[in-house]
Amino acid sequence: MNTLKVDVWRGGESGAFQHFEVPRLESQTVLDVVTHIQRSLDPTLSYRFACRVGMCGSCAMTVNGRARWTCRTHVAKVAEGERLEIAPLKNLPVIKDLVTDMREFFDKWARARGQFQPTSTRKDGFARVQPESAQRQQVDAGIECIGCGVCYSACDVVTWNRDYLGPAAMNRAWTLINDVRDGGREERLAAISGDAGCHACHTHMSCTERCPKKISPTAAIAGLKRATLAAALKGGI
Ligand code: SF4
Ligand code: SF4
Ligand code: FES
Repeated sequence: MNTLKVDVWRGGESGAFQHFEVPRLESQTVLDVVTHIQRSLDPTLSYRFACRVGMCGSCAMTVNGRARWTCRTHVAKVAEGERLEIAPLKNLPVIKDLVTDMREFFDKWARARGQFQPTSTRKDGFARVQPESAQRQQVDAGIECIGCGVCYSACDVVTWNRDYLGPAAMNRAWTLINDVRDGGREERLAAISGDAGCHACHTHMSCTERCPKKISPTAAIAGLKRATLAAALKGGI
């Protein structure tokens, strides 16, 4: 049987890679490799996953230098010479091994006012939003984000400036700004217009290139730049 040579990050921020040899199987995913190591070679290995089908976003790790969902990444696609290097997501504190602390990622969603602000009550009728309207289409482009952190891990501006809100939080803000049922537009524009907001984006596109859901946070951030400029010209923020 062929063998994969796998280096896995162990410990916290100041850990080191540990080498494992894992049987190479057909249609094997990177998550299968990590699971094999934990179940058969070292039960102390910590990692996170839930759905195994690209829905929960919890299995993201750095695989051969790039952030990916490990459950949807086949070894055949990424192994270089039957070698894998598996590390935690970049730009987030490491708790242990492959587990990162996602608090700063989700705190930034809250800072970007990523919560829906309803303008009606449950006693009101359903809002009727035309599927072909420009705003609904902007919402469609960003709504499928599952908060996996891959884009955040890929963004160099987050690396340079840990205060920067990052691509996912701003994609969320832009989605809500285009939601005609939402009433938090002004406070949201104010929240993302500061030094750590949309104007700090360098349009590198790494977030858009890496997002497994084919979402473009770069386009969302461009929309926020236009919206903040228009609001500033009107004296709104
Ligand atoms: S925008 Fe894409 S990469 Fe970023 S958190 Fe959402 S699903 Fe993940
Ligand atoms: S486009 Fe902006 S948010 Fe996306 S990776 Fe580049 S700097 Fe970061
Ligand atoms: S385990 Fe849920 S997205 Fe990978």
